[in-house]
Amino acid sequence: MPRRAHFPLDPRARTAPARATALSVSSLAALVVAALVATLALVAQAATPAHAAATVVLQADFEDGLDGWTGRGAATVALSTQGARGTQSLLATGRAESWNGASVDVTDTFEPGVTHQVSLWLRLPATGSGYADLRVSAQRDIDGTSSYETIATATGVTSGSWTQVSASYTPGLFDTASLYVESTSSLTDFLVDDVTVTTEKVRPDLSLPQLDETLEPWFPFGIAVEPADVLAGRGELVAHHAAQITPGNQMKPDAIQPTEGTFRFGPADQLVDFAVEHGQRVYGHTLVWHQQTPDWFFQRDGAALTTSSADQALLRSRLKAHIEAIADHYRTTYGEFGTTGNPIFAFDVVNEVIDENQSDGLRRSEWYRILGSSYIADAFRYARDAFGPDVLLFINDYNSEYPNKRAPYLALVKSLLAQGVPVDGVGHQLHVEVGRSLEYVEGTISAFEALPVTQAVTELDVSTYQHGGESWTNPPADRLLQQAYYYRDLVAVLKRHASSFESVTVWGVDDSRTWLRAGAAPLLFDGQLQAKDAFWGVVDPSRIGTTPTATPTPDETPTPDDTPTPDDTPTPDDTPTPEETPTPEDTPTPDPAGACAVRWTANAWNTGLTANVRVTNTGTTTLDGWRLTFTFGGGQKVTQGWSADWTQSGTTVTATNAPWNGRLAPGASVEIGFNASHPGTPTTPTGFALDGAACTAG
Ligand code: XIL
Repeated sequence: MPRRAHFPLDPRARTAPARATALSVSSLAALVVAALVATLALVAQAATPAHAAATVVLQADFEDGLDGWTGRGAATVALSTQGARGTQSLLATGRAESWNGASVDVTDTFEPGVTHQVSLWLRLPATGSGYADLRVSAQRDIDGTSSYETIATATGVTSGSWTQVSASYTPGLFDTASLYVESTSSLTDFLVDDVTVTTEKVRPDLSLPQLDETLEPWFPFGIAVEPADVLAGRGELVAHHAAQITPGNQMKPDAIQPTEGTFRFGPADQLVDFAVEHGQRVYGHTLVWHQQTPDWFFQRDGAALTTSSADQALLRSRLKAHIEAIADHYRTTYGEFGTTGNPIFAFDVVNEVIDENQSDGLRRSEWYRILGSSYIADAFRYARDAFGPDVLLFINDYNSEYPNKRAPYLALVKSLLAQGVPVDGVGHQLHVEVGRSLEYVEGTISAFEALPVTQAVTELDVSTYQHGGESWTNPPADRLLQQAYYYRDLVAVLKRHASSFESVTVWGVDDSRTWLRAGAAPLLFDGQLQAKDAFWGVVDPSRIGTTPTATPTPDETPTPDDTPTPDDTPTPDDTPTPEETPTPEDTPTPDPAGACAVRWTANAWNTGLTANVRVTNTGTTTLDGWRLTFTFGGGQKVTQGWSADWTQSGTTVTATNAPWNGRLAPGASVEIGFNASHPGTPTTPTGFALDGAACTAG
């Protein structure tokens, strides 16, 4: 087993509070990077908390002048009385490009790492075009490199009425910064009014038990971070609780090599510097992925690479060069891997290469289209050569707990090991929701324990949304308690397998900055950086229900029984309870052959979602082959599915049984799922029907 001693850590030796680390040397002169979504702020769920006073740092009502606002690009700004809130507002005209608009310098106003609540009102002048999608954005400039971040998009702004935009934004470091209003495409004039920016300097409670110290007897605890997470109060929290960090986006191919031969390590190095300063290890993520990988990798002179041997050789050489450049950079900057000073101890070599719906279990990515499955082994071999023996090489995937995904994942790792491919570790992302089967989680861990690999939980978060139909600003108190018990029970599973784990990492610091849809609240700390019940679920379950945020007492709310411990198996997923699966007598239906119940759960983020659909045959006859149909609200598109054959026509989606799950006895369930893209707020599909007969929820 390629285990190695954990990076020597003395949590007490680590310093807190954190201070802003300077960007390291490797900034890239004059490259203007349109990193639109790198630290995309989630639309505000931000009620001002009772315990921390918000400070107004910027206000403009345009009653006495332009308040420092200027035209951006070709645009000019002027005061207007047209359609004003109050007497006057700001009018932007003469926009020649969508990024032209109205701008204000916030270099001395915005504070890196601090969450800002931005509120303003938008409207089109009476003379403008019908409607436009306007965008509130921020520009940060560091060492001549600019990055652009969308704070919020106001869709369908018209001249009919004012639209208020409220969102939170947490800037990373900058030399200069501006806040501006632009559009997504329209060049219309627009009006802006009543701009207010407030901040709250939230501070973590550094007297709390440290997560890393608490879990140290079992495994190192890590947190995935963005550059803005290692500054101010969040930086103090990360320094206090994490034995290691994973860069959330900054080591992905698009961040590191946006164009061929142009490497950009600044943001990643800011995180590595933080880790060095605080005695933390770094888990690198990720060398190869089908997402966040620039198109140039797969093109020659703008045309898609083919499967010709010349094109295959070109892609292989790019893969090798990319991996080598990263290893060289970190060896040069921080010293040889495995030595003091270089904190990188592991790297995801390939991410999300499994697709259980394919006959060979492999995702049909551009990598696969051009190189077939060989790119996976090649990536590991290149990585071993480049990084040497002291960096653990991981394969990483999501939904690995589901048996249908576990099987091809296991098969791939086995086959790679059999070929002598240097795979050291298997990562389980564990992006789950409250109630996801812990029996499945344990089953997957046990299955990989039979192989000579270490394992890691790489991206843990536990969404409070159990299906796409749920939506809230703050989750109900009982759901937060269920989440705490879920974390407790999951950690109990992981502790039972501690010797198999290299580390356990949560995907984000706090609920105000998660990649999931606002309101999912999947993490251990709330937006004020205060410990949630979920934190106590990990650290000291006897304190669940005693934190100030949980209003109901445990007696009034669901007890731990709602989240079965692995010992309480079977889980609801495996053996539906009578309430969940009405007996034939309980469900009088004219068409027993089509009688069904559907339970929908989904994790959604700004542009996509992962959905799981449990279909139960509530009829009286065994189905031999089945077909589930449903209708999307509009805009969603299935990008890949599993455990069924998925097709989409317009908004209608059809899932036909896979060869191995077509037989569905009365009372039996099948779990299928898919990934979908969506342009905005995801909605729960409607009209679920099995073989044409409508299904109930359940
Ligand atoms: C996510 C980031 O957290 C987001 O900021 C980004 O917009 C999309 O990617 N699986 C992975 C991670 O392996 O890289 C993803 O991170 C989350 C899902």
